Amino acid sequence: PTSSARVVVDLDVTGPTISRHLYGHFAEHLGRCIYGGFWVGEDSPVPNEGGLRLDVVEALRALDVPNLRWPGGCFADAYHWRDGVGPKPDRPVMVNTLWGDVEENNHFGTHEFMALCELLGADPYVNGNVGSGTVQEMSEWVEYLTRDGDSPMVRLRKANGRDAPWNVPFWGIGNEAWGCGGNMRPETYADLACRYATFLHDHDGNQLYRIAAGAADDDLAWTEALMKAVSCLGCTRTPRNVFQGISFHYYTFAGDGIAKSPATEFSDEQYHRTMAKAADIDRVIAAHSAVMDAYDPLRRVGLVCDEWGTWWEAEPGTNPRFLQQQNTLRDALVASLHFDIFHQHAARLRMANIAQTVNVLQAMILTEESGDGLVLTPTYHVFEMNKGHQDATSVPVHLVDGPDAVAVGDDRFDPLSVSASTKDGTALLSLSNLALDTDTTVRLDLRGRGATVTRARILTGDKPQSHNTVSAPDAVTPAELAVALRPGALGSTELTVVLPPHSFATVE
Ligand code: AHR
Repeated sequence: PTSSARVVVDLDVTGPTISRHLYGHFAEHLGRCIYGGFWVGEDSPVPNEGGLRLDVVEALRALDVPNLRWPGGCFADAYHWRDGVGPKPDRPVMVNTLWGDVEENNHFGTHEFMALCELLGADPYVNGNVGSGTVQEMSEWVEYLTRDGDSPMVRLRKANGRDAPWNVPFWGIGNEAWGCGGNMRPETYADLACRYATFLHDHDGNQLYRIAAGAADDDLAWTEALMKAVSCLGCTRTPRNVFQGISFHYYTFAGDGIAKSPATEFSDEQYHRTMAKAADIDRVIAAHSAVMDAYDPLRRVGLVCDEWGTWWEAEPGTNPRFLQQQNTLRDALVASLHFDIFHQHAARLRMANIAQTVNVLQAMILTEESGDGLVLTPTYHVFEMNKGHQDATSVPVHLVDGPDAVAVGDDRFDPLSVSASTKDGTALLSLSNLALDTDTTVRLDLRGRGATVTRARILTGDKPQSHNTVSAPDAVTPAELAVALRPGALGSTELTVVLPPHSFATVE
């Protein structure tokens, strides 16, 4: 079957800037994300720099990773940073009770994380411990990382081999405080977030963007409690600029609630449910934004989705608490759909972090457990194809005519999703055809500019279950896409592309 669509793109109308930080990442001490993913240790036969796996670094550098969140997740509220600095043999071993009850030798700590960020060219986003830590511990971590001159923490850092302070722009105040971060009520956590934030100082030239741990999905009461704490609406005091961002987490499943299902074996119905759930993040962001607008109409406080992605059953034969899953074309389309939605909400949404970068949940990269093989997932390619949106200006896209929405129980989603931006005279269009078996011919009116095409690519596969493995690394990989161009009315350009079923395309 085929369908057609008409889309108007107003290239000469400017929307909000799409922060590059919407393309952020997340690496937790969970399963094989850090150990075996980023970190192999200095003595490993796998090529590394100071213990950091070079093939992983090289692959990620191609994505222009803007920021990396660490050390959790739930792990952040169990982590004591002093255990991870100093000579490695002296670092205490702890048990990671959250993720598989395995030993954590703390060989990857603060200095290793900062070295990783430097190799990637990514801004560090450090997540502090509220749940089992103290204000003093968190405050001293900031001092250790960012203070210049002389102080107790600066002396400790220098003794551990680093003279100059680092630049740390992003700081998380705990994680999921409603659950693994302490099982708190929103008001309790809101007060704690203000208290902790008060002692997270801007040392010397470093300026922190402090992020309060936010809601699960559409828990608006949580967001409201934090907005009340930070904005002080209706009171005589000036707003307390204690934290600058509020997070929320949003995971995509294929079933009802959080029932998990396999990553690579799924029915058409499960595929449709997945897309409906992924599309629903639009409603969730809009709802959090509406609450924030009521308290902060000038949008001083940013919304941060610092965990998002698909969550499937762990791969057979792996530790179920390691959350290791394969990644198919379905995952790639969840990512491309999320990005279109993120772009639309760029005025309030300042950052987003995919969970997680290597070997855990919706990963960019899967590394072999034995051997040094590495696989780039379909999701990796979406991040790469879309990277031109980073710090670009979003432009309005109007779906004038197109295929009908797909109904999934009480939910529905539009099978065609499009977003666009401009930067340095180049427009980037992203198009997803989420239909399972329909080709869609899309005619785009690019208004306001005469345009030429410099590159057009398509990411698709035989079926939505298609995925990459060490033996078939390019089953899902970008290929050239044919486009037709002709002058349109009033100096605009008419561009036509045919999108095969379950495909993602970019046109520059
Ligand atoms: O990303 C895995 C876990 O999911 C994180 O540790 C936690 O914050 C969330 O529940």
